[in-house]
Order: sequence, then C-alpha cells, then structure tokens
Amino acid sequence: MDKSQINEIISRNNIVDVISSYIPLKKSGNNYKARCPFHDEKTASFIVNESKQIFKCFGCGKGGNVVTFLMDYEKISFIEAMKRLARRVGMSVQVSPTSKYKNSKRDLIYKIYQLANAHFQENLKNHGGLAQRYLQQRQLSQQTIDEFQLGYALDSFGALRSYLLKNNINSKILGQTGLFGSGSNGFYDLFRQRLMFPIHSSSGNVIAFGGRVLDSEQPGGKYINSPTTDIYQKGTELYGLFKTKYEISKLDYVLVSEGYMDFLRLYENGFHNAVASLGTALTDQQIKLLSRFSQKIYILYDGDMAGRKAAIKAAGNVLKQGYEAKLIILPPEHDPDSFLKAYGKEKLEELIARAPTLIEFLHKDKSMEMSRKEKLEFLIEVLKKVEDDLSKELLAKEIAETFGISQATITSKARTRKRNNFSQQQEKPENLYSEERLLLKLLISEPKNIKNVAQTLKSDYFLSEKYRKIYELLIDKMFEIDNINVLIGEMEDEQIRNTLTDILLEEMPNTSIAEVTSSLKIRQLKKELQQINLELQNGDMNENLLKRKAEIKKEIIKFGKKIVTRILY
Ligand code: UTP
Ligand code: MN
Repeated sequence: MDKSQINEIISRNNIVDVISSYIPLKKSGNNYKARCPFHDEKTASFIVNESKQIFKCFGCGKGGNVVTFLMDYEKISFIEAMKRLARRVGMSVQVSPTSKYKNSKRDLIYKIYQLANAHFQENLKNHGGLAQRYLQQRQLSQQTIDEFQLGYALDSFGALRSYLLKNNINSKILGQTGLFGSGSNGFYDLFRQRLMFPIHSSSGNVIAFGGRVLDSEQPGGKYINSPTTDIYQKGTELYGLFKTKYEISKLDYVLVSEGYMDFLRLYENGFHNAVASLGTALTDQQIKLLSRFSQKIYILYDGDMAGRKAAIKAAGNVLKQGYEAKLIILPPEHDPDSFLKAYGKEKLEELIARAPTLIEFLHKDKSMEMSRKEKLEFLIEVLKKVEDDLSKELLAKEIAETFGISQATITSKARTRKRNNFSQQQEKPENLYSEERLLLKLLISEPKNIKNVAQTLKSDYFLSEKYRKIYELLIDKMFEIDNINVLIGEMEDEQIRNTLTDILLEEMPNTSIAEVTSSLKIRQLKKELQQINLELQNGDMNENLLKRKAEIKKEIIKFGKKIVTRILY
C-alpha cells in the first residue's frame, strides 16, 4: 500500500457517509452534529466537517479523519481500517510484508485469537466427546453452538501452543496473548479441558475467551476468562452483542443477563435483543457501548439475593448515565437459563411487559430487606451522580412522585458542589503558545511555504512540545503534503492528531507567515536578552556579552517594525 493508494481510499470514502453508518448525524450549518460516540454526553458536541473531511468532538477533544474514526470506533489498526474503507468502495489493497504499514502487534494478536478459536471449534467436533455430552445435557442446540462458535480446549498443556506454532506464529508473542502461562519449560496452555466461549468485539472479532469446567471436580474456577491484552479490556465488552446489536437497535430495548449460558438460552428462545455482562457489575463502558444501540436497558439477572443486589446496582449505573433502566426479577431459585427451561418464553415475555423501573421496583419491594430510608438513600446517591440536568430533574420527579415526597426535598438532598472544569484549566496554556499555533495553521494552509520557513526558523523556537512536534513533522513531510487529511491518519500520537484537527477547523487568521515568524524570533531574542542581562548582573563584564546585547536590541527593532501587536498579545 503506497501513498497514492492511501490517498485514493481516503478520498473515495466520504467521512459523512462513513460516520453516519455508525451514528446518526444531523445537519447543522456547514457541519454535521451528533452525540460523541467516544465519551458520554447528552448534548451534541461532536461535529463532522464535510468540506475538510474531518471530525472533532469539542467535549472530549478527540478529532481525526475517516481512518482514525474507524480505528478508534472499531478498535482496529491503521491497516485494518484502510482495508475496510477500501472494501467499502470496492477497492482491494495489497500489503507487502516490508511495507511500513505492516501488521501491528494488535493485528497479530487478533490473528492468534482467530486461530485459537478455529482450533477450539475443531477440537469440539473431533475430540470433544466429553464436552459434546455436557452440551447435550445442558440442552444447547447445534445451531446455537455453531452460531456462537463454542469450542473445547483439550486436556493438554501444549495443544494450542503447537497449533499456533504450526501456523507460523512466532513463539515470542505468545506471552502477550493472555492464552499462555510461562513456566520453566516455556509457555503452556492456560485453558485446559474446558468448554470454550469466544467473546467477540461488537464488530465481530474474537478478542477473548471464557472457559467453563465440565464437572465441578475440576480444579480452577467454574469459569476462567482471558486477562486484559492489547485487544481486550475487561468490563468493556458485552457477550453476544456482535450478533444482537441490530435487533437491539430495531426493538429499541436490550436484555442484559449475567452469564454465557443465560445469553445463549435467551437467544435460543428468540430473544435476539440480549447481551451478557459477564460477571455481575455492569460497567459504565458497557452501558455506554449499549447506548449506541438502545437506551432502554432491562436488567435480567439471577433471582437470588446476590443477583438482585447486582441488578439494582447495574440499574443505578444506567440511570446515572441518563438512560432508562428496568428490572426483570426472577424467582430466587432461577437464573434466565433455568427460568426459560422451567417456564418457557411466554412467561418471560410477560415479565418483560410488566417490568418495573428501578424506582418502582424499590418502592414496592420487600425481598431486599431495605428500609424506606435506605431505598431513598440509594436513589439519592444515584441522583447525585446524574450529569445531565434534564435527566436529573426527571429522575428527581419520578422518585418524588413514587415515594410521595416533595421534589424540592429530593433535589436539595441530591445537591452536589459543582466540579472543577479540568478541560478548561488544561486549555489555558494554549493561549501562551498561540503564535506557534498560528504559524502551523498558516503553513498547513500553504505547504509551499514550509521550506522557506524551515530555513529561518529552527524547531527549538517552539516552546510548546506539542506544536514543535507538529512543526517537525511538517518539515519532515513537506514534499508529501498535498493532502493534509492523509497526514492526520498516519499520526500515531493521539494528542497531536487531535491538535492538528483542531487547527484545521479554525478560521484562517488575518495575518501573514512573515509576521508570525518574526514574532517567534523576537520572543527567542527576548529570552536571550534576559539571559544576557542575568549574566551581566552576576558581574561578568564580558565584551562579547555586551556586543551580543547590542545586536539583539537592533534585531528586535528590525523585526518589531513588521509586527502587528495583535499577534503578540
Ligand atoms: P454464574 O455463577 O451465575 O454462572 O455466573 P452461570 O452463568 O449460571 O453458569 P452456568 O449456568 O453454571 O454455566 C454468571 C457469570 O459470571 C461469570 C461468568 O461470565 C458467568 O457466566 N463468572 C462466574 C466467572 O467469570 N467466573 C466464575 O467462576 C463464575
Ligand atoms: Mn447463573
């Protein structure tokens, strides 16, 4: 893949089309707007600029082009994003192994998980008698087993390792996959004699595994799960979502269960708008991920006390983010899996139809042995954490009406001190370096000037490290910048990428390159002058110093004539 091909792929993929296939965009003036998919917000501060082909969120600061959007949204590498964009417009890309865009470590780990998944599935088919019998006993259909790619890890310390090595995976990487332990004889398989559940990212790549023991006598936990790796972070993914996201979006509500088997049973019974949170805590990231598809979240956890407590906590987290939370409470002896087997899907449909909101549930419930005071305290803690003002007010209203107290009482109890706005504090230094930024902007808009400026202004004139890096990059790439947008996609440092998109979006300044260059030079000269003055104060009556001082003064005056004060202040 070479520059021109990258250029071609980017220019054929309109950023508005690509992003709107993920999130709804609304036309607003010259831009398109949306709620930012990268951070949690109620108001739309995410914009897409069609003419410049870039996106920017003024809430969290993230910005970039069509490629970096895909990389960040789908959590994929540059090369994978380019491939998808190429496919989207009917192009194909060849990547030579020597290309500087060769596969990243991330891509390699994806590949290993793909191979491991194939290996486990094959084991189940050919050597999985034990696991097959277990699945039969749990009454899972072959179709479900195939659709969710269940597999089997052999009772062996080296089966997966050998399989990967046979498939030309370098053993050096094995330690970073989360699939191996390391002992005196090197790497050994961590998952042994377990039923394997691949966990897919929402875009459908296998990124982790859960492995279940086949009988309770086996050592280790009932389930063991992949640890955090370069492609997987615990608590950020949802089991099953890659299959069910469309149905969730269509039905506009989601059933969140706890376990692998709960999810699969729900799916088999036709509830295709479900996911499993894998463990009991439903994290903020998981909720945020779900909210892309629906903002009505039904918690369907185990019916026992532990399950109910976890369900209340999960629902509280949902409300905190401003989404709708309902609870489906099962009899104490059941989880969704056993409930469906015992009562069938109609009974569950009834429970779904009658599901109370978290507030309604708490108000009526006697099973949790919480006093009215404790219930209100719990809800007020939730209310305190709601960020969006409108959601907060609506929630306060519902609590007040349901519990029969005045809304003013609720609101006053949930009052919190305004938090410091960190992002504003961080922005301050920007003004300090506004000239440096100005110069970058001018150079980007007219790259033909870069060569000239580079000859007179060394990069150490830049005091801001961020801007210096961009300046150096511009010089480094000065002969390639016919499309600045392409440059954004190649930038590995996210902060620099964000800054560059910011700069691109700003209005063109009403000043010239010569003016800004002079002003930067003056700043440098003044610094030098200060230094000399210091040395002179120390008593070094040095001829050379005095001479240099006079020169500097002259230079400052020379440059100063060109300067418009607006730039300096
Ligand atoms: P449960 O203990 O309710 O298991 O844990 P389950 O889903 O009903 O499992 P089966 O039906 O006995 O096979 C719910 C979820 O918590 C996680 C798993 O994701 C499990 O599906 N879990 C549980 C673990 O990660 N490790 C464990 O040891 C237990
Ligand atoms: Mn369970």
